[in-house]
Amino acid sequence: MAAAALAQLFEGLKAFKGRDRQVRLFRPWLNMDRMLRSALRLCLPSFDKGELLECIRRLVEVDKDWVPDSAGTSLYVRPVLIGNEPSLGISHPTQALLYVILCPVGSYFPGDSMTPVSLLANPAFVRAWVGGVGSYKLGGNYGPTVLVQQEAKKKDCEQVLWLYGPDHQLTEVGTMNIFVYWTHEDGVLELVTPPLDGVILPGVVRQSLLDLAQTWGEFRVAERTITMKELLQALDEGRVREVFGSGTACQVCPVHQILYQGQHFHIPTMKNGPELILRFQKELKAIQVRCREQGSGPDACSEKFTSHEPLE
Ligand SMILES: Cc1ncc(COP(=O)(O)O)c(C=O)c1O
Repeated sequence: MAAAALAQLFEGLKAFKGRDRQVRLFRPWLNMDRMLRSALRLCLPSFDKGELLECIRRLVEVDKDWVPDSAGTSLYVRPVLIGNEPSLGISHPTQALLYVILCPVGSYFPGDSMTPVSLLANPAFVRAWVGGVGSYKLGGNYGPTVLVQQEAKKKDCEQVLWLYGPDHQLTEVGTMNIFVYWTHEDGVLELVTPPLDGVILPGVVRQSLLDLAQTWGEFRVAERTITMKELLQALDEGRVREVFGSGTACQVCPVHQILYQGQHFHIPTMKNGPELILRFQKELKAIQVRCREQGSGPDACSEKFTSHEPLE
């Protein structure tokens, strides 16, 4: 009997071929953690994260010739867990299927260019809410977003800026976390992204950018709610340097325009370099494609299929 797969979740991570021809997964432990959290939220069977990662490593080993090595390319890894209970009832799944699909992917941005995106910010569409499941990577969170993405396209915008609450908080950009690099109203230069309050997906790249910026210690790094009112005021006062999304697909993606309440707001991201975005891109690439000292042990750089451990 065909299963009614009500419970479905997935992950997305990448394997990169380094300059030394070794293939490495980027911080896969964070994806394993997130996947297990999603599974528990859906009452799907638990699994051993280390064992799944080992299965993925071996799968990538089998298909390592499919890992491209030109600039910006990688092997996308898509683990999926679905309940395949042979019943129509809505109940605790007692049976599940866990599988992993691999696919070579090209550079998100053609050539060396970095094309900024425009966003439609329409508070009528809500991606996730407090008490909901936006912080898990469940299939059900993504199906309903396709129509909204089409609405954005109709208005000549490339992505959706997901707003939340009566104060129109900026939460995410399409399937990316959002960052604002600005001078805060208190006069301090900072990088800010919304906090993990249940509405935000805890992105692996999000965490990596926060980790990198903390390590540099050159500006304040904050996890705090950002509202449209605050952003528009900062734009008006010339305090905004860069606005960008972060995610496995593009790594870091500049934003140059927001369509909000019928008005186009220009964001000077590209005019400002974009200095921080390019620095993040460069730093992430350096970690992903070349050997980098990251401690010893089973994940040392010398090992094949090194899983990059959290940046210290
Ligand atoms: C809604 C959403 N936000 C953010 C992200 C970015 O997460 P990551 O950096 O782990 O790719 C993703 C992609 O998984 C996503 O689907």
